[in-house]
Amino acid sequence: MIDRRTIVKGALALPLLAAAGGLTASFLPFLKPTQGVLEIPKPDQNESKELQIGLLSDLKQPFDSISFEFLLETKEYTERGKQVTRVPGYVVRVPNGVVDKEITGAKVTSAADIKKGYLVVDHAGETFSLVAISRICAHLGCIFEYHTPDEVCKSFNYCGEAVKGKDGHSLFSCPCHLSVYNPVLVGEGNGVKLPGLVVSGPAPRPPFPFDFRVDGDKIVIKSYT
Ligand code: FES
Repeated sequence: MIDRRTIVKGALALPLLAAAGGLTASFLPFLKPTQGVLEIPKPDQNESKELQIGLLSDLKQPFDSISFEFLLETKEYTERGKQVTRVPGYVVRVPNGVVDKEITGAKVTSAADIKKGYLVVDHAGETFSLVAISRICAHLGCIFEYHTPDEVCKSFNYCGEAVKGKDGHSLFSCPCHLSVYNPVLVGEGNGVKLPGLVVSGPAPRPPFPFDFRVDGDKIVIKSYT
């Protein structure tokens, strides 16, 4: 027979058991996975879409330029699945036969022919030599501009040959620590020859290039590497 003391003890324990049960139940959802198994991305991480930035006919003469913003999409090991980075860039028409002395094999022969940073193409009876580089400064990552010879000499501490006289031309120049890059001279980055030699300031290499192609009159950015 159950005595009165046992019944009272049991009655006192009931609220404690209920509280413990409630507490356990509130944590149970956290034990359940909230998302499915992540798909392992393929080795090729770059999923960017091509971007048409303008036409060859927009670049009427050497040192004309087009500025653009490329959306670089890369796989990411999260539920979101990808990361999108905005990479600003320039395409500049440069005089024929200058960059070619350093970067060979730049001639484009079909719409599928992709070149890194520099290409040469014949279109409508004209030859176009184009440089395609990012505007991210190779020093500490500021975004640089394309300035006239006068601006470069007055504001960027560089008054060298490239900005003098009738052959003086625009250069890329960075407002942060005054690095200046010349689009027609070739430097080296990651062991690869690239247009945009540093002619002044602390940048250690040319800006990184875009992979690009020409389809008829259209200039198309393929990717950023
Ligand atoms: S970030 Fe461009 S010169 Fe320093």
